[in-house]
Amino acid sequence: MSLNQLTTDEIRTRIVECLAPGQFCSGEALGEQLGISRAAVSNHIKCLNELGLDIFSVSGKGYKFAKPLLVLNKNTIISQLHQSARDKLIVLNVIDSTNQYIKSHQTELPNGFVCLAEAQTAGRGRLGRVWVSPYGASLYLSMHWAFAMGYQALNGLSLVIGVAVVEALKKAGVSEAKLKWPNDIYVQDKKLAGILIEVEGQMGSACQCVIGIGLNVNLPDTVTQIDQPFIDMQTVLQHSIDRNKFAATLIDELHATMVIFEKSGLEPFIAPWQTADVYANKAIKLIIGQKTIEGIGRGINNVGALLIETTEGLRAYQGGEISVRSA
Ligand code: BTN
Repeated sequence: MSLNQLTTDEIRTRIVECLAPGQFCSGEALGEQLGISRAAVSNHIKCLNELGLDIFSVSGKGYKFAKPLLVLNKNTIISQLHQSARDKLIVLNVIDSTNQYIKSHQTELPNGFVCLAEAQTAGRGRLGRVWVSPYGASLYLSMHWAFAMGYQALNGLSLVIGVAVVEALKKAGVSEAKLKWPNDIYVQDKKLAGILIEVEGQMGSACQCVIGIGLNVNLPDTVTQIDQPFIDMQTVLQHSIDRNKFAATLIDELHATMVIFEKSGLEPFIAPWQTADVYANKAIKLIIGQKTIEGIGRGINNVGALLIETTEGLRAYQGGEISVRSA
């Protein structure tokens, strides 16, 4: 492909790659490399800053990252992945949503295919919320999985994925990650990661799942739009994180987990889920639409419903519209 055929996304990827080592690059040099004007370079830099990067300019020197960035690299991730996962990965620069990417390509994809992106412009969370997705600051990961057995084979899937994320975090040194039903990942009572599973298919026939995970790695100080307490891996571990290495750890863990889940369902994951339950034996309240139920969290049952001990006895709750909070 000649330079003047580069897409906007490719141009921005190359600008980021040039700046990633942390040195100054002049607008002129970048423009020459990419076959575009200095004014066009300046516009791309402005857009990259709007996507969450921190690039500043010094007259006579050019552009520079405020702090060096280790960019996601497909080959680096593949070199650390288990053999069976190596040909099922795409790494994108900026996309609306990695979940949407998988949805749009789902019919052509093998089970376990993963899409990663550096930034999302329309990242989505549970209950119709927005998932704030600044450039290079997190892992935005979506995986495709089709279930020939249909909806009944999905029982507990979101809980199982939560367990897989907690296991991957343990391998990366984060030992104290907890699960909040159904599948938020918390550390020090702040949200570290969230999971959004989107399913399509007819009742009684095969269904297609998108398993989306957003995991905060090194959020910029400028992030203000998140409406709940949050934390990132770098704050927890007090050192910089190699996102390529952690992406490989997480993908391998997800694949291994899905193989067990397809064979044995939720059962092997109930004990690990209970061990990580952030609300085990704590006072909680469930918010279901206008209704609030208060009681003591008692983990999950064999179909993954949340157990809560109320004044009327032990009750089980399940459904996508339920929110759980400390009472
Ligand atoms: C939540 O609300 O806690 C779930 C957040 C899920 C966010 C991830 S980021 C990767 C994937 N793409 C999306 O648009 N959403 C999920």
